[in-house]
Amino acid sequence: MIKVSAPSNIALIKYWGKRDRALNLPLTSSLSITLSSLISEATVEESTGSEDLWDIMGDPSKSQRVLAAARKDLGDHRPLKISIVNHFPSGAGLASSASSMAALALALSQFLGSGEVPLQQIATWSRLGSGSSVRSLLPGYVLWEAGTDPEGKDCLVRQLHPASHLPLSLVVCVVNDQPKHIGSTAAMERCRDTSPIYDGFHQRNDADLQLAQEALVQGDLLTLGRVAEANCLAMHNVMHQAIPPVDYFMPGTHEAIALTRQLRANGVPCFFTIDAGPNVKIFCSPEYQEVVSQACRALPGLVGILEDRLGLSYEELLTK
Ligand code: PMV
Repeated sequence: MIKVSAPSNIALIKYWGKRDRALNLPLTSSLSITLSSLISEATVEESTGSEDLWDIMGDPSKSQRVLAAARKDLGDHRPLKISIVNHFPSGAGLASSASSMAALALALSQFLGSGEVPLQQIATWSRLGSGSSVRSLLPGYVLWEAGTDPEGKDCLVRQLHPASHLPLSLVVCVVNDQPKHIGSTAAMERCRDTSPIYDGFHQRNDADLQLAQEALVQGDLLTLGRVAEANCLAMHNVMHQAIPPVDYFMPGTHEAIALTRQLRANGVPCFFTIDAGPNVKIFCSPEYQEVVSQACRALPGLVGILEDRLGLSYEELLTK
């Protein structure tokens, strides 16, 4: 039996559109931070029956795509028993599909591939379950390169910097911990088909990514935070202009955005980002985490707060 954990990751420069739906290849590159304690745990063992047994929350189709890809590459078709547990709310825009698909792909690489499978190959399996999951395969600041190859041979994931380069803490304002009303793939497709600013969002990607990467090299959190906020709002604008609009925001989302701006005006360098859900992730240097989380506790529209940081080394990630 193999048990592997992988953490969630949060994009600072977002992925919001596919160049190939079947292969889950992104239109543009994205940049993220890999977290530490918001984790999913995948367990893989041989099944005693003749069919696969799944013990997972929700729809198994994403996991089945990951398993099919691993089996095809490794030629091992033994029936398996697979369970995945998310140690935080699932499907609420907290990247549980990213951490769970990454954990599953890593567990399969250990169980079926005896740990000999190269990282980029594990990423191709994981990507079929959730595109953004490939960024959870590495710790620290991670770049997922879109590439241009039709089969995705140059769609690669790599670490830009370890977490120690620019330590960050994250305070997640949980506005709603229930699964989202529309999944990210369907929402991306609606945006592609109906949002007049979908192309514009992808055209600005190069500039946002370059600015974010330069800021990272300089250790310039202010610039990194500014471009991350702008990129996040641009993505949500794309959604808000779709027909019908994809609107993940709730009253608590607006409260947390306003609070972040207020804290910043009061000299606390913190920034928000929001994914396919109403929850707001506020990031800051570790020395400000307590101030930010105290301030968030006073917001009426939240159902909870989660706190995390950038952290783990890859070895820890594989064995935790
Ligand atoms: O990989 P998916 O299908 O879960 O899409 C993730 C999309 C966002 O979380 C909204 C942005 C991102 O880059 O993570």
